[in-house]
Amino acid sequence: MEGRSARALVPAEVFDEGTCRRHSPLRRRRAIAGSGSKTRFRRRQLGLRLGVPHAIRKSAPPPLCDKFKDVTSAGPDLKLAIKQWQGSAHDLSLSDYEVHVWHRPLPAAADEIAHLSRVLSEEEKHRASRFRSQSLQSDFIVARGTLRLLLGAYLRLNPAQLIFEYSAHGKPSLTAPHHWLDFNLSHTDGLVVYALAMNRRVGVDVEKLRSDFDTDKLARRFFSTAEQATLESLPPADRHQAFYLCWSRKEAYIKARGEGLSHPLHRFDVSLEVGSRHALLQTRPDPQEAGRWMLSDLALQPGYAAAVALELAARSADSDRPAGQS
Ligand SMILES: CC(C)(COP(=O)(O)OP(=O)(O)OC[C@H]1O[C@@H](n2cnc3c(N)ncnc32)[C@H](O)[C@@H]1OP(=O)(O)O)[C@@H](O)C(=O)NCCC(=O)NCCS
Repeated sequence: MEGRSARALVPAEVFDEGTCRRHSPLRRRRAIAGSGSKTRFRRRQLGLRLGVPHAIRKSAPPPLCDKFKDVTSAGPDLKLAIKQWQGSAHDLSLSDYEVHVWHRPLPAAADEIAHLSRVLSEEEKHRASRFRSQSLQSDFIVARGTLRLLLGAYLRLNPAQLIFEYSAHGKPSLTAPHHWLDFNLSHTDGLVVYALAMNRRVGVDVEKLRSDFDTDKLARRFFSTAEQATLESLPPADRHQAFYLCWSRKEAYIKARGEGLSHPLHRFDVSLEVGSRHALLQTRPDPQEAGRWMLSDLALQPGYAAAVALELAARSADSDRPAGQS
């Protein structure tokens, strides 16, 4: 990998195509037992205001190929790239300036489930066996197996040898020396989504829009006062989708923080606008917290709401990255 140009380090494959866990109320039934118009000066100001780390502020991000699709600006000097999983991945790269989102449909075919099962750890196989239905079992195998293949492709490591550890609230991460690669995943009926970033906390959530939930009741229980007011001000026909946009954004943020539902959901307000790229509006008690995160909509598939949250300030860069990772 050494000697490759900066452009070659950008993962063409990514851009080329067009338990005792508490479960979310929406998910409970599944449980087992740089803007070009701105001057450089303005960009620097923005970088400072949003807490973009010094190393990122002082140098421009690497150029992205014109042919890349599904790449959008996710904030000053940050790019969000979305790609659908095509069955395999090799030699992927990620730069400090990018968050990569992958998604894949569920369920998978039997031969793929068998293939993915082979990269799971014994503990993961045991976990899979405890799901109450065959389809939940298969979906867990596919979600975990694909996660391992993805991480292995970024790390140039055997997916079966990756070791996960879990935060106090259950967020999985890679053990040292690979902990610089942050990731998060979310699954819902028919879809699993992954988000990966380097040295920044990342969270993702996807929700299938369903008509069999009392969304008004859930909103009253879990949304902040401002979110409830915004929801109620919308025309009734728009409220259903807005509820799911709000929910997925709130979950992506709490998942990035690793706290899950132990983080009080009324302590922050998110936007309910479709297509929002800066959806974290207010945080309490620390109002500065809102400026430390990018919270963006993910337009993945009709019938789903999804969002990704990314910490703007990167942790100090670690060694032990594979060659090719900037
Ligand atoms: C994290 C949480 C919001 C997930 O909600 P969900 O909508 O049911 O599920 P999603 O599909 O969006 O996400 C599940 C994935 O997120 C990851 N995850 C689990 N806990 C997480 C956490 N605290 N933060 C971020 N990600 C987490 C896992 O990868 C999980 O998938 P996997 O178990 O198949 O690997 C919810 O389960 C929660 O609040 N958990 C914390 C419970 C807790 O505090 N437990 C204390 C000890 S029992």
